Amino acid sequence: MKLRVAVIYGGRSGEHEISLRSAKSIIEALDPDRYHVLHYLISKEGRWSPKPIQPEPGANAHIDVVFPILHGTFGEDGTVQGLLELAGLPYVGAGVFASAAAMDKDAMKRLCRERGLPVVECVVMLSNQLDPALPSQHFSFPMFVKPANLGSSVGISKASNPEELAAALQLAAQFDRKVIVERAIVGKELECAVLGNEEPEASLPCEILPSREFYDYEDKYLLDKAECIIPAGLSASDTAELRRIAVEAYKAVQCEGMARVDFLYEAATGKLYLNEINTIPGFTSISMFPKMWEHSGLPMPKLVDKLIELALARHEARKNLRYSL
Ligand SMILES: Nc1ncnc2c1ncn2[C@@H]1O[C@H](COP(=O)(O)OP(=O)(O)O)[C@@H](O)[C@H]1O
Ligand SMILES: [Mg+2]
Repeated sequence: MKLRVAVIYGGRSGEHEISLRSAKSIIEALDPDRYHVLHYLISKEGRWSPKPIQPEPGANAHIDVVFPILHGTFGEDGTVQGLLELAGLPYVGAGVFASAAAMDKDAMKRLCRERGLPVVECVVMLSNQLDPALPSQHFSFPMFVKPANLGSSVGISKASNPEELAAALQLAAQFDRKVIVERAIVGKELECAVLGNEEPEASLPCEILPSREFYDYEDKYLLDKAECIIPAGLSASDTAELRRIAVEAYKAVQCEGMARVDFLYEAATGKLYLNEINTIPGFTSISMFPKMWEHSGLPMPKLVDKLIELALARHEARKNLRYSL
């Protein structure tokens, strides 16, 4: 009997098109002798076709496991994971808590800082209480300004003076009620892929060479000019340290299944900083998460097998939990 895999893709976020590309790569990698793929497309308006997954346990008997491949808001942030929990379906990737915590850059930093992991200094402000003078009391220019919950560099800008900071705060505030200002780290940008439930493993890291001032939306998806180097140009000891921090951060946020952990390396001090955790990383033909695993000895068909295996294992492990007396 083939395993019936419901792939959910599209979605309401700004990363709808990226999700379509990620889903295409995943569906192509699912062995047709082992899996029967069921398509669940969510439109930009939030409409499901051919029909939505039902929230009631047992109401989706035609599905064995779900592979949500929705990036960003309403998909990577715990919302769809909540639906799948209600439905009692096994699914690939992080659970509700880790999805929401990783999506919120402020929450993610707090969880990692509490474990002694290195995160970039930052100031967090609510969008209706913006204080442009506050960040300078903690660190100097240049700074990065971001909406706390988003992705694909949307709403993010670099500010080199108070005027640019004021404009950057206004822009970020359009995308979230919480805004983060960080000290800009000058050096390298690195990524590491992590896989697993209780005993997560880190891949070889890669290095991103943005073609613009930073790795912004255009550079990520439109220009196709940013370069990626695997393995990253780091010393053996820095590579080992990066992989250690990636696994620790994954555990700190209670990730399961998979995540891509992103770093900034400060050239002047040789220090590594955690930048962010993506619980549903890109899976397009040019995406780094599958590429890093391929270089680490796990090609895409094996990677999707492993992700489904992890989803089923987590579901099985939780089967005997009691939810009432
Ligand atoms: N503190 C920082 N110092 C230097 N560059 C940064 C910093 N924060 C973000 N960037 C740049 O902005 C890009 C997008 O920021 P990131 O925090 O990764 O947001 P997103 O979730 O949108 O990917 C990064 O890939 C990097 O190029
Ligand atoms: Mg990023």
